[in-house]
Amino acid sequence: MAKRRTEHRFHGVTMLTSSHKDIRRIKRTDAQPSIHGNKLWKSSFLLIDYLKKHPPEHCRTVMDAGCGWGMGGIFCARRFNAEVISVDADKDVFPYLQANAAANGVEVTTRQSKFQKITTKQLRDIDLLIAADICFWDELVDPVYNLVKRAVKAGVKKIVIADPERSPFFEIAHRCEDKFCAEIVEWRTKKPVEASGALLVLENA
Ligand SMILES: C[S@@+](CC[C@H](N)C(=O)[O-])C[C@H]1O[C@@H](n2cnc3c(N)ncnc32)[C@H](O)[C@@H]1O
Repeated sequence: MAKRRTEHRFHGVTMLTSSHKDIRRIKRTDAQPSIHGNKLWKSSFLLIDYLKKHPPEHCRTVMDAGCGWGMGGIFCARRFNAEVISVDADKDVFPYLQANAAANGVEVTTRQSKFQKITTKQLRDIDLLIAADICFWDELVDPVYNLVKRAVKAGVKKIVIADPERSPFFEIAHRCEDKFCAEIVEWRTKKPVEASGALLVLENA
C-alpha cells in the first residue's frame, strides 16, 4: 500500500498533512474544528503561490482571517519576516496552526474572533490582510465584505483573498470591484498540489 504523505514542502514552508504524527496526536485531543477548519484547504496554495510571485510592498504586519491551520500567515512570517496575527472563530484550529508554526520555526499570534468582531481599530496596524477559502456560505457574504470595508477604512494597504471560486466569493469580489476597484485574478498551482481558483486583490492606495 502506498504510504500517505505526512507533509508538503511549498515555496520554503512545510505543511503538515493529516497523516503527520503531530497532527494525528492533536486529532486525538478535544481540539475538533467545527467550521471547516479540519484540514489545510487548497486555496492556501493559491494564496502562497500568489504572494511568492507578487511579494507585497508592505507586509511588516499581516492578519490571516479565518486562518484554519494558518499556512498563509506562516508563509508570511517565514518569507517576509512579518509579524502575524491569525484569527479564527474556532479556537480548536489553533493547536493545528501551532504545530505547523513549530514545523516552520516561526511564531504567530492567534486570536479567537469572528470576522464580524474584528474592529477597524484592530486593523489599523495591519499592512496586509490575507485569507483563503473563507467565503463558503451565503451567510458569510456580508461579514467578509464588511471586514474588507473596515480594512480599507483602517488603511490596510493590501488585501488578498483566495477562493476555489464559490459563488459567495464572487458576490463579495464583484462588490469590491465596484466599490474599491479590486481585481479578480484567476490562479492555479500544479505541484505539490493541483489547485485552481481566483484571488480577490485589493490595493488600498
Ligand atoms: C474552509 S476553512 C479555511 C481555512 C484556511 N484558511 C485554509 O485555507 O486552510 C474556513 C475557516 O474559516 C473559519 N471561519 C468560518 N466562519 C468564520 C467567521 N464568521 N469568523 C471567523 N472565522 C470563521 C473556520 O473556522 C475555518 O477555520
